[in-house]
Amino acid sequence: MKEKLNEILMAAKEAIEKAKSRQDAEDLRVRFLGKKGELTAILKSMGSLSAEERPLFGQKANEVRAAIEKALAEKAEMLKKAEQQLRFQAEAVDVTMPAEKQKIGSLHPLNIVLNDMLEIFQSMGFDVVDGPEVETDHYCFEQLNVPADHPARDMQDTFYLTDTLLLRTQTSAAQARTMEVTKPPIRMVCPGRVFRADEVDATHSPVFHQLEGLVVDKGVTMCDLKGVLEQFAHEIYGPETKVKFRPSFFPFTEPSVEVDVTCSECGGKGCRVCKGSGWIEILGAGMVHPNVLRNCGIDPKVYSGFAFGIGLDRLTTTRYKISDIRLLFENDKRFLDEF
Ligand code: DAH
Repeated sequence: MKEKLNEILMAAKEAIEKAKSRQDAEDLRVRFLGKKGELTAILKSMGSLSAEERPLFGQKANEVRAAIEKALAEKAEMLKKAEQQLRFQAEAVDVTMPAEKQKIGSLHPLNIVLNDMLEIFQSMGFDVVDGPEVETDHYCFEQLNVPADHPARDMQDTFYLTDTLLLRTQTSAAQARTMEVTKPPIRMVCPGRVFRADEVDATHSPVFHQLEGLVVDKGVTMCDLKGVLEQFAHEIYGPETKVKFRPSFFPFTEPSVEVDVTCSECGGKGCRVCKGSGWIEILGAGMVHPNVLRNCGIDPKVYSGFAFGIGLDRLTTTRYKISDIRLLFENDKRFLDEF
């Protein structure tokens, strides 16, 4: 019986030695010390011993139990430390590693370009005004020297809401509104969305963006117009950019011009973006027509002015080499994340 106890002790010690987890240790405790365990089983057979043998055997059995408990406790402590060690290693933070970058939002490319434009014009003393997208025929056309039967109405395919209400086809409507309520000197720009019944393709959209500009004062000349627009083009495209003024026609300006800049893609050599011409048209402009001044209550004999309308979408697509204007309106976050 004593040998049997020693065998149990040896077996227990060996098994405890090999235990790899706290669960293993718990299983061993059940196996050796539990109600149905090996030590318990042998204690149950004590009844067959003589009265002298029994206390000795009992004492030995208690020693074995104590030894197994001690070995288990030590093992449990060791395993706990080892597990902790592993966890520390896994959770270790290397404070010398660069921190993970927080992703921050970005501006829509149209807004980046618009902010640049506003900064340029504000630094030249222009105020920024706003105008309604649902506009009246009166401000969008009549006041701008485009009466109802005028052939120039066909230049723009208008979305009419009623006989007199429409979605503005041009931010020029803001000129008339401004001149009606502001006495010269006037220096303002008005950015915003405009609408035309155009087919959608890679370069056309029924919704697009313009920035209108207007200067009215005594003695304003074409030279002022050239100076302001050249300065603007150089700030947006760089000082080496050439600027070309071409004669054109708009009902609200006389004389009228269209302004081209050297293509930013090819530097003027001719490429796909500028359709081989080396130039990109960025705006229409001119000296405010006397009829427009008069319509808005400003005496054209005393005052003169110039105006311009810049297309934002083309500026944006050429600056960022965006091949399809539709990308500006689709709100595909993967596209927007690039800016
Ligand atoms: N409103 C014109 C357009 O949409 C652009 C324009 C041309 C605006 C000449 C002007 C201007 O103010 O003077 O095509």
